[in-house]
Amino acid sequence: MKAIILSGGKGTRLRPLTYTGAKQLVPVANKPILWYGIEAIVAAGITDIGIIISPETGDEVKNKTGNGDRFGANITYILQDQPAGLAHAVKIAQPFLGDSPFLMYLGDNLVESNLDLFIEQFTSRNLDALTLLCQVPNPSAFGVAKIDENGRVLQLVEKPKVPPSNLALVGIYLFSPAVHNAIANIQPSPRGELEITDAIQYLIDEPKKVEARQVDGWWLDTGKKDDLLEANRIILDTRLEAAVKGEVDEQSQVIGRVQIGLGSKIINCTVRGPVIIGNDCYLENCFIGPYSSVADNVTLIDADLEHSVILQGAKVLGIHQRIVDSVIGQRAQLKVAPQRPKALRFLIGDDSQIELV
Ligand code: TTP
Repeated sequence: MKAIILSGGKGTRLRPLTYTGAKQLVPVANKPILWYGIEAIVAAGITDIGIIISPETGDEVKNKTGNGDRFGANITYILQDQPAGLAHAVKIAQPFLGDSPFLMYLGDNLVESNLDLFIEQFTSRNLDALTLLCQVPNPSAFGVAKIDENGRVLQLVEKPKVPPSNLALVGIYLFSPAVHNAIANIQPSPRGELEITDAIQYLIDEPKKVEARQVDGWWLDTGKKDDLLEANRIILDTRLEAAVKGEVDEQSQVIGRVQIGLGSKIINCTVRGPVIIGNDCYLENCFIGPYSSVADNVTLIDADLEHSVILQGAKVLGIHQRIVDSVIGQRAQLKVAPQRPKALRFLIGDDSQIELV
């Protein structure tokens, strides 16, 4: 069995972060989202992995992730020249996939479940497609599956006004090579993309064996800010181990599960876990509250934050109001102006969002 991870796309919903980088490399608990997917796939016993990349962010994904050695995998990069849809990504991966069955994983998705159970069901029942499903309160926002009592998929509908169930399609699929013929027979959708839901519907109509299975626990599509913060919260809550490697002075208090990286200095701060602070950070007179991730080389002085993600090289200086539910981009600076007139001064990137009180 092989795997492909889709790490191209436009990432419009996570602008402005995605103007300068791949959304799949945005960190959750200081680790790129994409790497959680690679680790889950390797843990399920698949080591031959193709990663679909775009011309805009492909080099960054490649340079950061490497040839797979660090994961115990063998990674092949596959360039998709434009984001022409999930089924298009499978189409261009066909030379890599050959006639192997494969797992397809959307690079900005995270699930709590182990993947081996799904692979077992797919293989032992000789399926042509297995879709993973998760119950959601707002199915109209997703691809939704109608299934029978035996878990056979009867119909897939994209963002239905009247959803046939509350079971959304999670961004993880298993396919036999029969999907390549299905993809060769579908047309682009009204939004101009080759849709994987259309390819699966083609398999259902053939009819091929298409089943579904619900994931246990949480599933997150981190392509939007609030979902990214939720992923950060869940990962810090469930997977963070305490480890203080940096320097913490005597005036500081470190409470609960906290990780502080090498070369970081914590001066007169309260850090209340779960919190992760990367390497070479400088924090002075700060309160860092639960569910915060601070990447490498960040400077925080007289700052107070909670449930937030601060990316590499950012600086927050002298902001005494609490910063919550926020994502601060790489090298961004948030500081209090020293001189009069007392006024707000901004240089804000396109598509940024700022809420003032
Ligand atoms: P989406 O999040 O559906 O698409 P997107 O990345 O274009 O995001 P947005 O809606 O915010 O503009 O894509 C799911 C995953 O699949 C994501 O990791 C990007 C990837 N992808 C590709 O690799 N190729 C594609 O052609 C598409 C559409 C997505």
